[in-house]
Amino acid sequence: MSAVVAAPQPLLRPMTGHDLTAVLKVESMAYDFPWTLPIFRDCLRVGCHCYVYESPQGIIGHGIMSVAVGECHILNICVHPDHQRRGLGEGMVLFLLDLARQKKARIALLEVRVSNAAAYHLYTKLGCPGWWSEMVAVGYEQARGLREKYQRPEGYSISKSKVLAAPLGRLFGAWQDARTRARWLKEPITIRKATRNKSLRITWADGKTSLEVLFYPKGPGKSQVVVQHSKLADARAAERMKQYWGGKLEGLKGILER
Ligand SMILES: CC(C)(COP(=O)(O)OP(=O)(O)OC[C@H]1O[C@@H](n2cnc3c(N)ncnc32)[C@H](O)[C@@H]1OP(=O)(O)O)[C@@H](O)C(=O)NCCC(=O)NCCS
Repeated sequence: MSAVVAAPQPLLRPMTGHDLTAVLKVESMAYDFPWTLPIFRDCLRVGCHCYVYESPQGIIGHGIMSVAVGECHILNICVHPDHQRRGLGEGMVLFLLDLARQKKARIALLEVRVSNAAAYHLYTKLGCPGWWSEMVAVGYEQARGLREKYQRPEGYSISKSKVLAAPLGRLFGAWQDARTRARWLKEPITIRKATRNKSLRITWADGKTSLEVLFYPKGPGKSQVVVQHSKLADARAAERMKQYWGGKLEGLKGILER
């Protein structure tokens, strides 16, 4: 007689600085282009939600998420190749989404290349029920002509993002500080809420449409800005603003990387 013994479930716990050597090892085994030590350090430093799976053999996976202004961004999900396809990736995503929900997030940003079969499968599988179903519904309804491109229940919205070779604090300052901002953005804006190095909520120059600007660390001396412009009148206005923000973020890059 033989019996199959299931591997014990690893412990899911917060990551600390002491885990980073082991985390890097798993990262470099699972990814072709692994994150480097300074990126993980930055994530811990700026208060991202960083977790690891710990088994008796050591660290076998990690997950990293940032949450700001009603939105969570899953930045990294990684499982050691020897431990994949046991439900750990899915467990980590569900855990992080649950945490994000407790922190009042309503939208999840999940970055995945369609060519990444494992991650794509995982995210599309989890994308149906629950609270980030809107993202899926948009795709579904667009495909059937029920909604136009950029259309959301509350109006039209677009997003544009850029990674810049500038530290997070400088990038944030270039938005928040009116004098620096005037060098690349002439339109008058009203900042309604600022969370340092994380997010800005802004009323746009027209007094009607709204911006949410999110900031992320991307390693030493690098950072990312994501601009979401919502409540736009129609698809043409959305297309126009997408072009507009593309140009503005290029201008900002020119100033910060000079
Ligand atoms: C993506 C990743 C985290 C998935 O982790 P995992 O623990 O193997 O995933 P799970 O066991 O929870 O599987 C979740 C689903 O994905 C499917 N899946 C996992 N690996 C797959 C693969 N290589 N091809 C197709 N589907 C796959 C599983 O079958 C499961 O779906 P099912 O329940 O319908 O069968 C893991 O493959 C990994 O670390 N990849 C390298 C890093 C990466 O690309 N991370 C994601 C980008 S942020």
